[in-house]
Parts: sequence; C-alpha cells; structure tokens
Amino acid sequence: MKKLLITGISGFLGQYFARHKMDWEVHGTYYSTPTQAAGLSLHQVDLTNTKEHSELLNRVQPDAILHLAALSNPNVCEQKPELSYAINQEVGLAFAKYAATKHIPYLFTSTDLVFQGDDAPYAPADMPAPIMTYGKDKYHAEKAILQQYSEATIARLPLLYGLGANFLSNWIQKLKNGEKVYAFTDEYRTPTYAPDAAAGLLLLLEQKQTGIWHLGGKESISRFDFIRLAAKVFALDESLMVPSLQKEVKMPAARPANVSLDSSATYEIGFSPKSMEENLQLIHSTKRH
Ligand SMILES: NC(=O)c1ccc[n+]([C@@H]2O[C@H](COP(=O)([O-])OP(=O)(O)OC[C@H]3O[C@@H](n4cnc5c(N)ncnc54)[C@H](OP(=O)(O)O)[C@@H]3O)[C@@H](O)[C@H]2O)c1
Repeated sequence: MKKLLITGISGFLGQYFARHKMDWEVHGTYYSTPTQAAGLSLHQVDLTNTKEHSELLNRVQPDAILHLAALSNPNVCEQKPELSYAINQEVGLAFAKYAATKHIPYLFTSTDLVFQGDDAPYAPADMPAPIMTYGKDKYHAEKAILQQYSEATIARLPLLYGLGANFLSNWIQKLKNGEKVYAFTDEYRTPTYAPDAAAGLLLLLEQKQTGIWHLGGKESISRFDFIRLAAKVFALDESLMVPSLQKEVKMPAARPANVSLDSSATYEIGFSPKSMEENLQLIHSTKRH
C-alpha cells in the first residue's frame, strides 16, 4: 500500500482523516496535542524544526503528502507573525521542495482568507489580496509552492464546521447554557462541513489534480444566519442571538466582508458537499453535543 503523510492529524480537520478508513498506509503528525488513532502511524514532530522535518521525511518516505498543519487562527497569526511565517509559509515550501525532488503528489491547504472580500464570489483564477498576516502567509506560500513545483495542488478551504473544537460547537454550547451569542451579519463565507472538505481533499489527491482548487460549500451565508440556522435545527433559543457588525468588535486581525468561494470547477470533477441544513441535521442526530 502507498504511504500518505498527513501533517496536523491532531487538528480540527486532521481528526476526520484519523477516523476515516483510506486506501493508503497513513502516517499522521502531531505537535503538542497527543493523538490516538487506530490503524495509522503517528509521529510527534515540530515541523518548523528543519532537523525534525527532514528526519520525518527520511523515516516515512511518503508517496504523497497532505499538508494540514498550520497556525490557523488569524488573530494568533497577527500576534505571532514569526510563527505564522515559519509554519504557514516555510514548512509548506519545504514540503514542495521534497515533493518536487521525489516527484510525488503534494497537497497544500490554503484559505478563502487570501481574498480581500469586496468582490465575491472568488474563482481559483481570481487575484488574491489578503488583508491579514494569516491570509498573506498562505498566499505567499501558494505562490512559492507552485513556483517550486508546478504539479503541486493548492486547496483553498472556506470556514469549516463540524463536531469538535470549532466555532459551531462553542456557539451551540453557549445557546444551551442560556448565554447570548454575538454573530456578524456582515461577514459572508461559503462554509463546508469538515467531512465534506476531507472528502474533497482526498478527491483532489486521488485524481492527481494539480494547481488551485476551491472547496467551498454551495451556499453563501453570514455568520449570523449560519448560527440562526443551527439554532433552528438544534431547537435552541434564537432570541439569545445578537446580530453584530465587524466594526463593533476589536480584533487583532482584520476581517474581510465576503470571501465566498466559487467552487464550480471542483463540483464538476465530483466534489459534492451537502447543504448546510442537511449537515447540521446530521451533526444534531449524532447527539454528541
Ligand atoms: N478550520 C477552518 O475553518 C479552516 C478554514 C480555512 C483553511 N483552513 C486550513 O485547513 C488546514 C487544517 O486546519 P485545521 O482547522 O485542522 O487547523 P487546526 O485545528 O488549527 O490544527 C492545526 C494542526 O497543525 C499542527 N501544528 C501546528 N504547529 C505545528 C508545528 N510547529 N509542527 C507540527 N505541527 C504543527 C497542530 O498540531 P498540535 O495540535 O498537535 O500542536 C494541529 O494538528 C490548515 O492549513 C488551515 O489553515 C482551515
């Protein structure tokens, strides 16, 4: 069986791969979050440490690389730009160099936040103009990776939701506790359910697609309307939801207004995310909240 190296298996998206049976011998990496996963080999590594990085590659000798590890919180990236640069740019490029030498598939996960947010929806060929450190580092990484290895794959992910430590779980817990939830009415995304995104990444990898692809969901929605839909599906008190505007909340990282993705090219090759309502029903029916 061919070996797939998945970095960041301990992260929000990585956890879906850890639970999914695949036609690969999977090697997953984690850094600070000890992780358990049956049927795959785990490696604890600081990918920003060049020695540990190359030891990992020598040890695993992967036939393909799916790079999920990142500093993925835009506010933390703004506060720790050196760390963002190291993990979000340098590590991504180091894998591209290795993949180019070995001529193996390499998939780098980027973000809808490479776009400025004033001209959505954005197709893969549209020009990025990121407005915060996280988006800038991801965009610079994209360019450097494709320059280094034109057969690399860049998957731009939108806001992801699902079970586990993410914004949806936090909001639902607050509503259950009877606490108010403030959500932006002026921030639009095309959210994707994390297992749908994981399936999309595998599709790109298995079809050996190269270049830039978007993995957005089929609906563009504000954060406020998204949580209102979740509250409806989960039968929670919608009156606890408070509409708010981006300018009312001071945050380290600037936030674009609308980074909805045009993912039609990816739908054409078989990426088929379910509707938000269907996915929220599915999450609700697992009764893990
Ligand atoms: N979640 C979203 O809504 C979203 C949206 C758009 C794009 N993306 C992109 O999708 C990918 C996956 O995101 P995610 O939400 O799963 O991220 P996440 O939950 O923040 O997980 C980040 C992962 O990176 C690992 N990591 C961080 N620093 C590391 C280091 N120095 N060495 C080795 N591993 C390190 C973490 O390991 P430990 O936890 O073990 O330290 C963790 O496994 C990322 O490229 C992210 O930028 C995510």
